[in-house]
Amino acid sequence: MASAEAVAAVVEAGGAHVPGLMDALEARLVTVAGSHGAVLGEHATATIAAGGKRLRPLLVFVAAGPAPSGHDAALRAAVAVELVHSATLVHDDVLDAAVLRRGRPTVVAAAGRSIATATGDLLFSRAFAELAGGGSPAAVRVLSDASSALVQGELLQREDAWKLQTTRERYLRRCDLKTARLFRAACELGALAGGGNVPLLGAFGEEIGIAFQLLDDVLDVSGPAERTGKHRGTDLLDGTVTLPLILARERDPELAGLDLRSVRTPEAAEGVCDAIAATGALEAARQEALAMVAEAKAKLTALPEPSQQAALELVADGVVDRYA
Ligand code: IPE
Ligand code: IPE
Ligand code: MG
Ligand code: MG
Repeated sequence: MASAEAVAAVVEAGGAHVPGLMDALEARLVTVAGSHGAVLGEHATATIAAGGKRLRPLLVFVAAGPAPSGHDAALRAAVAVELVHSATLVHDDVLDAAVLRRGRPTVVAAAGRSIATATGDLLFSRAFAELAGGGSPAAVRVLSDASSALVQGELLQREDAWKLQTTRERYLRRCDLKTARLFRAACELGALAGGGNVPLLGAFGEEIGIAFQLLDDVLDVSGPAERTGKHRGTDLLDGTVTLPLILARERDPELAGLDLRSVRTPEAAEGVCDAIAATGALEAARQEALAMVAEAKAKLTALPEPSQQAALELVADGVVDRYA
C-alpha cells in the first residue's frame, strides 16, 4: 500500500480531515527529529525522512474522526505514535542485525550500535514529551503500555531465536506484543482525542496489527527487496521463526529437519525462502491474515458513523494488500 494512494482512498471514504493532519504530522516530525544536536539529529532526521507508510498516524486520525475539536490531541498522538514506531525500528535493527530499512542503510549499519541505540532512545523520549504536552495522563498511559509490550515482544523474540519448534500460539503472542499493541494504542489514542469508542477501536487496532505482522513476515520471505525496502530472509538469518516457516515445516520434511544456525549467508537464506514459498505456506499465512482483517472489520459495524467505518475498513484492507 503506497502511502499517498492509501491516504487518498481514506479521504474519499470520509476522512476529509486527514490530508491536512498528515501534512502537519510530517512538519512536526521533522522539527522534533532535528532539534536535539547534530549527531542524533542527523540519524533521527534520516530515519524520518526515509519515509515509511505512516500507517499508525493514519489510524490515529481516522479513529479520531472529523470533528475539529479533537484534532490537536490527534496530531500530538499521531506524532508520538510515529516517533515510538521509528524508535523501535532503529532499535529493532540493532537487535535483528538488519542492514537495510526503508530502502536505505540502517542506522546501526551506517553509524554503529551506540549511535543507533542513542538515536532510538532520543526518538522514544521525544514521543512522550510530545504527548505530555497535551496534558492527558490517559494518553501517556496508553502509549507507555504499548511501549512496554513492545519491549516484551522483542525480548520474547530473542528468547525464541533459533527455536524451530516455536508454536503458533507463542508466535502470535509475540506478534501481539511487538506490533499489535502499538496499533491498538494508535486507535485508542484517536478515540480518546475524538471522543470515540475506545475499547471497540482498540480491539479493532490490535486485530489488524497482528494481521499486519503476519503479512510483514510473509513479505520477509517473498520480497522483493525493491518493494519492501528490506532484504529477503532477514528473519531467517537472525533466527526468527515466523508463521511461514512454522507452516512450511508441516509441509516439507526437509524444512522440518533444517538447522536454522546453518543458514548463514543471504544467499542461503534466499534458498530457504524459496523452499518455504514452494510449500504454499505464504499463501496460507496470507489467508490467515485476511481472516483476521475480516474479523476486525466486522467489529466496526457497531460504530455510529458509516463514513468512519468505511475509512477504517480501507485502512484494514491496506494492511493485507501491500508490498511494504
Ligand atoms: C515495520 O512497520 C515494523 C513492523 C511492525 C513489521 P512498517 O512496515 O509500518 O514500517 P514503515 O514505517 O512503513 O517503514
Ligand atoms: C517488527 O518486527 C519490529 C517491531 C515491532 C519493532 P520485524 O523485525 O519483523 O520488523 P522489520 O521486518 O524489521 O521491519
Ligand atoms: Mg526486524
Ligand atoms: Mg519483518
